[in-house]
Amino acid sequence: MDTPTLLVIFGITGDLSRRKLIPAIEQIAKAGALPAHFRLIGVTRRAVSPEEVLKGIDAPYVRSHLTMRQMDLASLADYRQLASGLDDMARDMGVAAQRLFYLSVPPQISRPIVELLGQSGLAKQPRAKLLLEKPFGTDLASAEELVAQTRQYFGESQIYRIDHYLAKEMAQNLIVFRQGNSLFKRTWNKNFIEKIDIVASEKIGIEGRAAFYEQTGALRDLVQSHLLQLAALTLMTTPKGSNLSTVPENRLRALEQLRIDPAKPVFGSVVRGQYAGYRDEVGDQKSNTETFVDLRLQSADPAWEGVPIRLITGKALDAKTTEIRITYKKDEDFEANQLVITFQPDEGVDVYLWTKVPGYSWKMEQHSLHLAFKDHFDALPEAYEQVLVDAMRSSHTLFTSSDEVLASWRIIQPVQEAWEMSADDLVLYEPGSGIDL
Ligand code: BG6
Repeated sequence: MDTPTLLVIFGITGDLSRRKLIPAIEQIAKAGALPAHFRLIGVTRRAVSPEEVLKGIDAPYVRSHLTMRQMDLASLADYRQLASGLDDMARDMGVAAQRLFYLSVPPQISRPIVELLGQSGLAKQPRAKLLLEKPFGTDLASAEELVAQTRQYFGESQIYRIDHYLAKEMAQNLIVFRQGNSLFKRTWNKNFIEKIDIVASEKIGIEGRAAFYEQTGALRDLVQSHLLQLAALTLMTTPKGSNLSTVPENRLRALEQLRIDPAKPVFGSVVRGQYAGYRDEVGDQKSNTETFVDLRLQSADPAWEGVPIRLITGKALDAKTTEIRITYKKDEDFEANQLVITFQPDEGVDVYLWTKVPGYSWKMEQHSLHLAFKDHFDALPEAYEQVLVDAMRSSHTLFTSSDEVLASWRIIQPVQEAWEMSADDLVLYEPGSGIDL
């Protein structure tokens, strides 16, 4: 991990960069996992000082390694100047440095940046890598266009499409859990599993992101990306041994088999909702943007035939939780066991078992065996630390390939088409509501 590195962040003054990226770099530096030669280049459209960028963030390492660069993001000449600036910095490092271009900007801005990184030759600089934030398009057609545009200048191995859920500690652990525990490995199929529920519930609303959310909605924001990726990790074939390089391919195979029930009308497979007060927040009393989705899928993979797979997400609900809930088949009324893998707030695994209540009668109750990560491990790394470390190390395991992006748009396309026809199915719910599984 000692490849000299120039990390260029477009949009360094933005929310993601201040809340996640800068603290992540600081933390990686603290852990001693950054290369000895490292520079952060913060690109902005107006002149901004490092002090302004770092205001309120405790990041002494970043402070001493940050160079700000003002650019007109539409000017090819400015990209050429950036290229020669990076060449100079690489020369000072005395070695061939890798160059990471992190686009932490809205999609309408990221497209022209990719174009100009290409035209200016920056994409062809030694070891150039492109890190992209979602959303990757708004539907299948726009995603196809985006993929084609990016591929004009960057090879697939240079592209790192970020889905921060894949980099969460528990997502990585899910692979190990499935691979390393024969009790679960042998029963991880339709013969033993009754149903799979994947839930990402949020307490927060849209937090002032009205313009973004109006264009996005819960289906695109959480389902197309994070939840389908968690489904892929749950359903895919696990890799052999410690070679994780096949994971993206295995996730892709799993996504390619997932679909809504073709035999039912689309509205029988999906429920959408909007929390009361949302329309006032976005200032549009006619908005039909969904803040809640409950989507039922099935897999054509013979190992999963007939197992309902449900993806649920919503904002302004009663709790912040992300979990995968596996319900096992039962023979008798009280026998169904559950396995719950919790991603947040507290990473852990629960196995629900039936037990006899002590006493003179044969009363049964369910209780869990609970593995809480915080009881065994110190603070777990933030997803964005893992994202940056892996991109620097050229590991694609936790990034989504362009084929995965297209496969996931393909899954939700029928829902998008049905929703465009009519919004009569939109359900209003009270903020603070809970989810019934
Ligand atoms: C982002 C979405 O990708 O994930 C947000 O755009 C959402 O709307 C967030 O709040 C949730 O991430 P986490 O890690 O807090 O569950």
